[in-house]
Amino acid sequence: MKRLLTTPIYYVNDIPHIGHAYTTIIADVLKKYWSLRGDEVFLLTGTDEHGQKIEEAAQKKDISTIDYVDSISRQFRNTWDCFEIDYDKFMRTTFMEHKISVQKAFEIMFDRGDIYKGEYEGRYCVSCESFFTQTQVLDEIYCPDCGKQTQLVKEESYFFALSKYQQRLLTWYRDNPQCILPLHKKNEVIVFVEQGLQDLSITRTSFEWGIQIPEKFHDKKHIIYVWLDALMNYISALGYGLTQPKTREILDGYKEQNPCLDSQMQYFEHATHIVGKDILRFHAVYWPAFLMSLNITLPRHIFVHGWWTINGVKMSKSLGNVVNPLEIQQAYPMDIFRYFLLKEVPFGQDGDFSQTALINRNNGELSNDLGNLLNRLQGMSEKYFASSLQESFCLESYQESRKKINAITTQCHTYMENMQLHKYLESVWELLYLGNEMITKIAPWELIKANKHKECKEFLNLIANILAKAGLLLYPIMPHACQKIAHCLGFSIDSKSFALLITQHGYLHNFVLTKVDALFPKIESKKIESSNSQNSDEKSDLAPPPQTQASQEFSNRISLADFHKIDIRIGTVVEASNLPKSRKLLKLKVDIGETRPRQIIAGIAEFYQSDSLIGRQVCILANLEHAKFMSEVSEGMLLAVKDKEGLSILGIEQERKNGSKIS
Ligand code: ME8
Ligand code: MG
Repeated sequence: MKRLLTTPIYYVNDIPHIGHAYTTIIADVLKKYWSLRGDEVFLLTGTDEHGQKIEEAAQKKDISTIDYVDSISRQFRNTWDCFEIDYDKFMRTTFMEHKISVQKAFEIMFDRGDIYKGEYEGRYCVSCESFFTQTQVLDEIYCPDCGKQTQLVKEESYFFALSKYQQRLLTWYRDNPQCILPLHKKNEVIVFVEQGLQDLSITRTSFEWGIQIPEKFHDKKHIIYVWLDALMNYISALGYGLTQPKTREILDGYKEQNPCLDSQMQYFEHATHIVGKDILRFHAVYWPAFLMSLNITLPRHIFVHGWWTINGVKMSKSLGNVVNPLEIQQAYPMDIFRYFLLKEVPFGQDGDFSQTALINRNNGELSNDLGNLLNRLQGMSEKYFASSLQESFCLESYQESRKKINAITTQCHTYMENMQLHKYLESVWELLYLGNEMITKIAPWELIKANKHKECKEFLNLIANILAKAGLLLYPIMPHACQKIAHCLGFSIDSKSFALLITQHGYLHNFVLTKVDALFPKIESKKIESSNSQNSDEKSDLAPPPQTQASQEFSNRISLADFHKIDIRIGTVVEASNLPKSRKLLKLKVDIGETRPRQIIAGIAEFYQSDSLIGRQVCILANLEHAKFMSEVSEGMLLAVKDKEGLSILGIEQERKNGSKIS
């Protein structure tokens, strides 16, 4: 089966960070897995290069927009090359083929009666490149998605009749249980659509960097909305709208862009989009509606993952807390990073990035359970059988174990289909536990002592099969280590082996082992000094959560039950001092009625003298996970408000007993 697999095309206002790497690595994992299962997979990634945000970013750098986008796009491509991402096409929205394709789509939607001219008046968030419909209050100044300040826009605009598609979208969600995963994300989308859809503004006139609407409209000032432009990459990359002879002639001049002139649209019949939760609405609402208008099959799946955070704050360039994937790639073997990303957080949830956690995964399960099992097999095979396990058949014996093994490999497939990647890994680990436990139980060395050579060889053969199966299943996640396993055991990682050993539950025999090095040598200490170095003096592993406008966000409503989870206490500051070497941080000891005062690290040194705080009653978020700033533990968070006037800490009107709870 032909399948399309896509990552978002990333904005070039931002250099790649590990959030982008996460999405792209997941796509690579799925490509490898599906290819092993025999599918023909087209993996598409690229860069999103138009729009106001990019135009402004280039202006800030004082270079031409095209030079700017070329250079950042190159950085993305280089990063994926360094990560050995097996993409089939790196799409750029500045490609001529893309422009032609987008204009063609605009025409088709217009001819269908889905586009009309009007005027947009409302708010626009440049950072998200998103409009806010009239249902949202006009005077909401801050973007409900990113918390940044929005602009008031009043301009002539073409609209897409999104409201027409509300019912069809709801039917699509209902009839396709797996169209958006995880399911709670799908439910969020359904709630959003059920509230009613407004028509969508799809052109802008206040900047130039983008694709003009087709010439035949004689309305050159209209630039196609960057999200319509960007989403279209998923089909323009496959040659959508490029089949006319005239188009081919034009594109002859752009051969280096490698357009798919023979339309590859059949890949779109089975399309899967992988996206972060920040851009779910665009993919799960607008995109299917555009496709319906174009009369194109809808995607099979939209897989939505959570955010990587640093100290609980979303990693993003504007917050200055990004981790550069190339630094990670140079410091740690790639397989470990890939494994860590998939295992550390269930797909769909947020996760905090830390090098310590990554090292622990290597030194723990990777080294102990997987590396060691191969090591034990190599050692015993060499010692007892000169590395040759030939003429040993395990089919007659170990019926029970083989049943277990078969059940596990079947289970793995289900987890992968449901995008439960961490569970997939847990299942493979059951195989490894089984192998390790059996070695302890059967004790091959005892068999040798008892002169049961045949039994011993047969047993080692079973272990070799467990490792071969684990190697195939883990290959999509850890390609290098698994190639080593395959080399050691003498089989090849391909769809034939996968079919035999995994799908058909087959077993190999006649192993002759070749010695390989340890798969996951232990890592002693962190390889990168600061994971969020942004030239500040706060060279800690973790930066204090920034106090941004995000607190103005009201669309993210929480239930009362959620509020009750928050434990804010009144406390008195009993000690306060500046943290050496930090301009921003103060170390406070706050009595919140416990046996000892809490240590709180607060980013308020630029606004308060430490002495002035002693004796003051403050509000402490008391059930926050502990965090470290510049090697000091913070056992909660001091509440404060920060705006243009400066920073001011929260207190209460009348003195209260320390430990009183705010509700
Ligand atoms: O939204 N954690 O581009 P973008 C996890 N151009 N993933 C993250 C992340 C984080 N902290 N930060 C970013 C755009 N991502 C549009 C897309 S598609 C037609 C147009 C990943 O550069 C995640 O996949 O802002 C997220 O959805 C994407 O990068 C956003 O990238
Ligand atoms: Mg973004």
